[in-house]
Amino acid sequence: MSTALKTRKAAPGESQAPEIRRLASLLEVSQALSGTLNLKSAMHNVLEILARHHGAVRGIVSLLQPDGELRVEASDGISGSPRAVTYQLGEGITGRVVQSGKPIVVPRVSREPAFLHRAARRPELAHQELSFICVPIVLNRRAVGALAIDLKFDPARTFNRSVTFLGVVASLIAQAVKIHRLIDEDKRRLVDENTHLRQELRERYDFSNLIGSSGPMRQIYEQVTQVAGTNTTVLVRGESGTGKELIAHALHYSSLRASKPFVKVSCAALPESLIESELFGYEKGAFTGAEARKKGRFELAEGGTLFLDEIGDVNLATQVKLLRVLQQREFERVGGTETVKANVRLVAATNKDLERAIAAGSFREDLYYRLNVFTMFVPPLRERKADLLLLVDHFLEKFAREHHRSIRRISTPAIDMLASYHWPGNVRELENTIERAVLMCDGEVIHGHHLPPSLQTAEASGTITRVSLKDAVSAYEKDLIQDTLKTARGNCAKAARLLDTTERILNYKVRKHGIDAARFKG
Ligand SMILES: Nc1ncnc2c1ncn2[C@@H]1O[C@H](COP(=O)(O)OP(=O)(O)OP(=O)(O)O)[C@@H](O)[C@H]1O
Ligand SMILES: [Mg+2]
Repeated sequence: MSTALKTRKAAPGESQAPEIRRLASLLEVSQALSGTLNLKSAMHNVLEILARHHGAVRGIVSLLQPDGELRVEASDGISGSPRAVTYQLGEGITGRVVQSGKPIVVPRVSREPAFLHRAARRPELAHQELSFICVPIVLNRRAVGALAIDLKFDPARTFNRSVTFLGVVASLIAQAVKIHRLIDEDKRRLVDENTHLRQELRERYDFSNLIGSSGPMRQIYEQVTQVAGTNTTVLVRGESGTGKELIAHALHYSSLRASKPFVKVSCAALPESLIESELFGYEKGAFTGAEARKKGRFELAEGGTLFLDEIGDVNLATQVKLLRVLQQREFERVGGTETVKANVRLVAATNKDLERAIAAGSFREDLYYRLNVFTMFVPPLRERKADLLLLVDHFLEKFAREHHRSIRRISTPAIDMLASYHWPGNVRELENTIERAVLMCDGEVIHGHHLPPSLQTAEASGTITRVSLKDAVSAYEKDLIQDTLKTARGNCAKAARLLDTTERILNYKVRKHGIDAARFKG
């Protein structure tokens, strides 16, 4: 080849024209590669340029995949689906070029046994003699793919310049591949980071430990979302055990202060004499035993949320102090003169009838108005029966897991008992009830008799009270047999085994109770 090049004397016009054409093509190629963010279509455009200006009757760009396979990424002049064409490293001419990182020229394809003919040429070229040039695409001194073209066979053709030229095109492609890989990597990193952040946000923002989809609960979620982003003081009201504290948490973790502390003060539990120093802290020597300065809850909650639980139980003197903080957003430590700024969002909760307390003179009206900026009323459980089953399921799962029990469900009569009870202790009472039932239950199903006596009223059970022991036992027996048949899918023999009795006895009882075993089949 090189001898052919040296001996062949080109006329000045003749040698210049291909050089200019090649330079012009390189410009076009670099424009094609930088003109789009779609690497595949950019590479395809490059192959078209080679076809248009350099007589390439077929062109292929293959790139190494992460699995080590060479796959055709772009092609021109191929029939069939080029995507399906792959080579192993070292396999065929292309595989060898990538493995060795050196170009290969096959002047006459028909005489080259290593030629694999994997990517089919267009039918009109099938019987034509072709020459094949394949150059590596090198990135960071490693071949990451190959650029190959077919030219019509011409006995007078020399390949040196074509190989050099294609090498430059391949290096332009390599640059484009590099940039795309960097962009891809960046994108992947950003997507990962975004997914991670979203996950974190979801965990903070979702109210996943607040169960309930009833209208009143949905309203609560809406209200939480509504005020979460503000600094408004929120007052959460509702009977004992309705979930006020959970809501205060949800408010904090949905707010911009979520990464700052959530500090709770149980006002009812603090002795009057301590509440001031607890809230505002004290200076060294403020009283006997005050050996060092101590931060109060207001200071500990700096930047976050201070949750004043049971605010209805605060004494009048402390109410005055609280009022001042609420009005001026500042306070002094006990025994101190320095004024401390309070950057906290206040959430207060109470199950007291504050209006009545005002009337009785035990709650300051001005404090009431300061707190009553945005009030949420959490309805008692008996007014949102729609949530009852959801809560039951939730607690059942929680306590079964906690106590390592394999409880699957609650019998229908037990559910009826839960549903007809009035739940004066609200969700807390329900939670305790389910925990007790889980502990009492020795099988897989919670029955009515696992529930506390307070639920075993005539009203609640509908069947058990004011009946004789015999009838109550009989009702329980029927209940148990039905449940077992359900588990055994109507198979009496299996149900008998589960109940540790004989099939004959079971069949007798099924008939006696008028149970339709066939109902449980399937
Ligand atoms: N919607 C709910 N979803 C899940 N658990 C709840 C829900 N509401 C309440 N609970 C649970 O019930 C119990 C009582 O809730 P919480 O302590 O928030 O009630 P409270 O309104 O603050 O009661 P109190 O006025 O007696 O302080 C907690 O264990 C809480 O996890
Ligand atoms: Mg509470």
